[in-house]
Amino acid sequence: MRSCRGEPVDRPPVWLMRQAGRYLPEYRAARAGVSFLDACRDVERAVEISLQPLRLVGTEAVILFSDIFVPVLGMGVDLDFRPGPVIAKPLRTLEDVEAISVPDPQESVPYVFAILRRLRAELEAEAVPLLGFAGAPFTLAAYLVEGKGSKDFGALKRMMYREPAVLRALLERLEEMTVGYLNAQIDAGAQAVQLFDTWAGLLGPADYVEWILPSHQTIARRLARDRAPLILYVNGGGHVLDPMIESGADVLSLDWRVDLAAAARHIGRRASVQGNLDPCALAAPPERIAAWVRELAAGGRAARGHVLNLGHGCLPETPVEGVRAFTAAARALA
Ligand code: CP3
Repeated sequence: MRSCRGEPVDRPPVWLMRQAGRYLPEYRAARAGVSFLDACRDVERAVEISLQPLRLVGTEAVILFSDIFVPVLGMGVDLDFRPGPVIAKPLRTLEDVEAISVPDPQESVPYVFAILRRLRAELEAEAVPLLGFAGAPFTLAAYLVEGKGSKDFGALKRMMYREPAVLRALLERLEEMTVGYLNAQIDAGAQAVQLFDTWAGLLGPADYVEWILPSHQTIARRLARDRAPLILYVNGGGHVLDPMIESGADVLSLDWRVDLAAAARHIGRRASVQGNLDPCALAAPPERIAAWVRELAAGGRAARGHVLNLGHGCLPETPVEGVRAFTAAARALA
């Protein structure tokens, strides 16, 4: 928490994006015979899965087990996971967009807040911070318009250039949802919140400033950030570091294509940084992983704070020993 706020620390803390997930045999066991969505809705099971990385691989923060598409279920969108989100009727017209609602998340997805309250009660004694999260409007819209994951999100980009008013209307609804959803997570005990704008890096700098930055700024302004710092993640965002700084987020989470030391120097006191080992690098021998951790920690010092993490989510085929080597090396930093 101090690193997020840029207060002095002995060494950077460590957690991993997608730390609760398919690389862990214990996760696969907890998921046996249960669909992903049912696991997200089952409070006891989701609490157990959220806590697994803390006990099994030694991370120093816990992130809610859920998905960025869980709150979208409450908006009247027919959505399933196979294993990524698949939308039965992709949103393509203004009528499609106007048919989705922005419900009170406490009513549409009450289990998310029950999970957070249980986790916070569990973690309070150990002083382990609890992270909440949400998908950013653009990344949610990418799947809702495309219907599923994609390499270039062509349908989304066509909408952006041919029917900007439709995309604007969709982003506005998603922005409203995201603000209410994250503030409700903070009320339920989340001590920091991460906004995942995984696909925002698909846009060039001018489009990013037009389509992405204003919504990040609005979200940053409307969140209860005195109670929970905001972490902003953009994948492939090295070319939009300046507008990321302008978002007002407390922590900028960078992927591995960015030189962390150079980025940290550029950002300076304006924000903390998070990242940024290539998730695939966890397949390397432990001593190499430890060397990268020392290098990242040294580079991160130029920013006002640094949270050690990966540059994107942990992959299903990641060796558990690699994850343990990563957290152990962080804990061993002087
Ligand atoms: O970080 C964590 O451990 C918390 C939980 C979390 C999940 N998804 C669990 C999950 C978080 C923070 C997410 C975010 C998410 N989900 C993003 C943004 C970050 C990113 O990784 O880019 C996106 C784009 C999604 C959408 C999504 N959900 C995809 C593309 C997939 C399938 C492919 C994949 O990488 O796993 C999911 C499913 C999903 N979300 C799983 C988990 C553990 C796997 C489901 C399973 O076990 O079958």
